[in-house]
Amino acid sequence: MNLPAATPKPTTLLQLSDSHLSEDPQAEYRGQPADANLASLREAIKQLAPDAIVLSGDISEDASTASYWRMGGFVRDLAPKIAWIPGNHDEREVMAGVFDELGFDAGPIVGIGGWQLVLLDSAWSNRPEGELDEDRLAPVDRMDAERPALVFVHHQPLPVGSSWIDKYPLVEPDRLWERLAGKPLQAVAFGHVHQVFESERDGVACLSAPSTAANGLREAPKFTPGEQGPSARCFRLWPDGRWQSGILDATGCQAASAGQ
Ligand SMILES: [Fe+2]
Ligand SMILES: [Fe+2]
Repeated sequence: MNLPAATPKPTTLLQLSDSHLSEDPQAEYRGQPADANLASLREAIKQLAPDAIVLSGDISEDASTASYWRMGGFVRDLAPKIAWIPGNHDEREVMAGVFDELGFDAGPIVGIGGWQLVLLDSAWSNRPEGELDEDRLAPVDRMDAERPALVFVHHQPLPVGSSWIDKYPLVEPDRLWERLAGKPLQAVAFGHVHQVFESERDGVACLSAPSTAANGLREAPKFTPGEQGPSARCFRLWPDGRWQSGILDATGCQAASAGQ
């Protein structure tokens, strides 16, 4: 993207997802060392120097207090602001017990760099699928009409073309899309799918964050380890609503998509 010299400095945001840490730091997730894979991103995150980090769910595999403390300890010095939503493997009350103590932000609307991050909790029904009822959609109605927005939700709000994870989507996604119509929305960012996915619906970018632990092949009938290693999604957000996004791995952040 070519930007004029007078362009204000963008805000840098990192989305970490699906770390699947367990109570035992040596535990594996899908054959991968979850803690070590997360730690392999540390230097690249320090280089990125994000202004904020959003943890977009499945932070823990077993919803253990110890796993949330380890994630908290990992991210607390990597950005001045940390926000979070749960995934289907998490327990919101247990997370809040740790993350509230660390001063992390559960929103549901977080302001940063002229943008609003809207944090929607789709993981609450003790099922692998996600769901947004009226209460969980309510933050959408509180969005500022004047500010560009990113929505974060754990479950994919559209099929990603992977049968092994499209079995467990956000159910009734049109409830979300209808609610978002007319909002100053640039992108919906999600986790849960354990792969890089980029598409759009209704002119809104739909972007997944890959897992920091284990990622799978898109076109496989069941989870099959893919070539995508531990990784995350990064964003640069300009106050006038322009944005870039890319994928961060241990070598740094490569820009991929951009929008107006
Ligand atoms: Fe996950
Ligand atoms: Fe998930």
